[in-house]
Amino acid sequence: MNYGARHVAIIMDGNGRWAAARGEPRVVGHRAGLEALRRVVRAAPSLGLEYLSVYAFSTENWKRPPEEVDALMNLLVEYLRSQIDELDREHVKMLFIGDSTALPELCQEEMERAVRRTSQNTGLKLAIAMNYGGRDEIVRAVRRVLAAGLDPAALDEGSFASHLDTADLPDPDLVIRASGEMRLSNFMLWQTAYAEIYVTPQYWPDFDGAVLQQALEVFAQRERRFGGLG
Ligand code: IPE
Ligand code: IPE
Ligand code: MG
Repeated sequence: MNYGARHVAIIMDGNGRWAAARGEPRVVGHRAGLEALRRVVRAAPSLGLEYLSVYAFSTENWKRPPEEVDALMNLLVEYLRSQIDELDREHVKMLFIGDSTALPELCQEEMERAVRRTSQNTGLKLAIAMNYGGRDEIVRAVRRVLAAGLDPAALDEGSFASHLDTADLPDPDLVIRASGEMRLSNFMLWQTAYAEIYVTPQYWPDFDGAVLQQALEVFAQRERRFGGLG
């Protein structure tokens, strides 16, 4: 099936509430969230997606207790180590957006390894947003523009976008947020200018291909105008 969305970006929210509803610690929710990611990645290509971006850790998530931050960093490593064979087999090409320089060394190593190993793959492009903030990304892009010594008059939207972390990704067609919150929480501020937004009350750990398909069915009914008359 193809719903006309090349790129879906997901705000994977609600892990903590999912766990709390079961009387479990938050980390149990984060772990269940990784299983949901696995299911959604597996379903994405058959739903016509070429690009899937997932918000895993924001520049604001450092405000959480250090134990939770540590658990999230360790879970990233665990996800990459345990899933890389399957991802590679399914031709997934991995990339990361966000400021990786602030992440623990071990995370950076696993991320680099995953990118290297899957760099020739031609299937789904999976972008994991890790220490990602839309504002931080824009500031880092401005730094790159300045460092490149670009003539101010030569800067336009296209050349600016080529300095963003998402230079190799088209803008998302659809942003999905789990767990009912109606906000972007600093996700892809530049790239979502004309994205459709779908919010579902389901917590992220309850996500699977069927929920993704429901979102895409709604997306396919939307009238996108891009400022014109449709
Ligand atoms: C999303 O779930 C995962 C991250 C933000 C890292 P949360 O941890 O935000 O879960 P809630 O929103 O507290 O339920
Ligand atoms: C957004 O969720 C960030 C990620 C899913 C990684 P948060 O739980 O951090 O967002 P807020 O704090 O509810 O806006
Ligand atoms: Mg949350």
